Amino acid sequence: MSESSPSSPVNPQVNPQKDREILRRRTFAIISHPDAGKTTLTEKLLYNGGIIHEAGEVKGKSGTKAATSDWMALEQQRGISITSSVMQFEYKGLRVNLLDTPGHKDFSEDTYRTLVAADSAVMLIDVAKGVEDRTKKLYEVCRYRNIPIFTFINKCDREGKAPLELIDEIETTLKMACWPVTWPVGVGGLFFGIYHRTRKVIYPYEGRDNDQDTAPIPVTSFDDPKLAERIRPEVLAAFKEEIELVDGTLGEFNHQAFLDGKMSPTTFGSAKQDFGVDLFLDLFKDWAPGPAARKTKTEHVVKPLDAAFTGFVFKMQANMDRKHRDRVAFIRICSGKFERGMKVHHMRLDREVRLAFSSQFLAQDRETVDEAYAGDIVGVNDTGLFQIGDSITTGKKVVFEDIPKFPPELFARLSVSDAMKRQKLQKGVKQLSEEGAIQLFIDPHVGHQDPIIGVVGELQFEVLIYRLEDEYGLDVKLVRTPFKVARWPKDKSGKPCADLKGNLQIFRDMNENPVVLLEQEWDLNWAKKENPDVEFASSINTVRDQYQL
Ligand code: G4P
Repeated sequence: MSESSPSSPVNPQVNPQKDREILRRRTFAIISHPDAGKTTLTEKLLYNGGIIHEAGEVKGKSGTKAATSDWMALEQQRGISITSSVMQFEYKGLRVNLLDTPGHKDFSEDTYRTLVAADSAVMLIDVAKGVEDRTKKLYEVCRYRNIPIFTFINKCDREGKAPLELIDEIETTLKMACWPVTWPVGVGGLFFGIYHRTRKVIYPYEGRDNDQDTAPIPVTSFDDPKLAERIRPEVLAAFKEEIELVDGTLGEFNHQAFLDGKMSPTTFGSAKQDFGVDLFLDLFKDWAPGPAARKTKTEHVVKPLDAAFTGFVFKMQANMDRKHRDRVAFIRICSGKFERGMKVHHMRLDREVRLAFSSQFLAQDRETVDEAYAGDIVGVNDTGLFQIGDSITTGKKVVFEDIPKFPPELFARLSVSDAMKRQKLQKGVKQLSEEGAIQLFIDPHVGHQDPIIGVVGELQFEVLIYRLEDEYGLDVKLVRTPFKVARWPKDKSGKPCADLKGNLQIFRDMNENPVVLLEQEWDLNWAKKENPDVEFASSINTVRDQYQL
């Protein structure tokens, strides 16, 4: 496609083709409790987006697709999703990026980072279970970032809670208003179909009854005898009562409240039966916001249509392709256009780097990408230049807001019995800590050969041991330490400080910042008492002070 049409104004700042591409980007993630149906919904979204021709091609718990990295075998063994990938599909003129997030709570930090790269989220709820623990936590992350949220109530083909009860549960637990766009006509064994409130149409569900006429039924009145001919009287009566209540109490949809994360357009369906997924996608097409403007560390806000290319790294992943032993930096593009081979300014390193090898992802397949636009995610092959949180730009200097790290809560000392393999261990833990899979702490007196590893969840240790063996051929010993807390001491001006009183043992993190590891809250209180001018921060912004803006 040509860069500009012959009729476009002769203004180097305006690039209609680029702007069109950016404006049609929609980037979102699904948040849910495990088992609510995220894998199934993802598969059906891709199917409806025309990417998957045979449902069942997405990596599922049964591992239907060949894994590109052997350690993904662990995911399949354990039936959990550890990696997160990005999937792209077209839907009615939109280019949709679906960011997959790991389901297990021990990988919540990875999920958090992924949500930073999303512009909206879909909260998936099991009709029988309602708002579950993990959904609530992920919802809070979205709320904190004011991400607009759609709600999809899944498994309507199964017995579940009454829809009004569910809506009430969501509203009271999450303090977010729901605005049902669709409503189920019956649930479970009595599920007849879905009523679309704005289209005023009932979509009958084929389900168990293959003879069911699935042609949409326009609804002019709920007393229309045509409805009574098709729908069981008790189902129709309950539906009528519910919908009259919903129509009567809900006002107009408030788009701004949605964009502020305060009102959620809600739809019902069954991902497994691919029922209601297209209705959800239509809603998504109409209402999902395009790439959001992004805040930076200065007053400057980066807007997606800005001429310069900007982006930030939100995820690192080593050894995605075992054949190439590579490392990929996932970059969320915030403004402008990406072109393979382009030179960008790397803000932390304060130097120019070339983005030579870039790819986009379709489930676990990777394709080289030559161009991408604000809203998209590109994976760039990394030779050690990138870290999570890095900002890059072709224009004026810009540093995006930090991606906070979660404070580790579990600690262990790692060692290898074979002294010849110590260097390999160092390399392995360094790479995995750069990926954000673990946090690394070095005792300056012992050095790198005996690192201490900090994690947020137990399963991260398991993955660490597995990957060190699988990817680096290391048979490691992991001994838990009694540490429970890591704190980064900072002086009054916010600079890292290692000059502490109270006989505190000082470690270094992967960026050489001083950090104290403590066994209990009491120790922390002691440390604070001994060092009243020091702030003991629960995470460190490792890069802020290095920027010269
Ligand atoms: P997750 O990624 O959120 O963990 O959930 P996943 O999609 O793996 O779905 C969890 C289970 O719920 C699966 O059953 C899946 O088939 C089922 N499921 C998902 N959506 C629906 C739905 O709309 N209706 C019904 N009835 N079931 C649904 P499973 O028994 O673990 O696997 P399978 O043998 O069904 O594949």
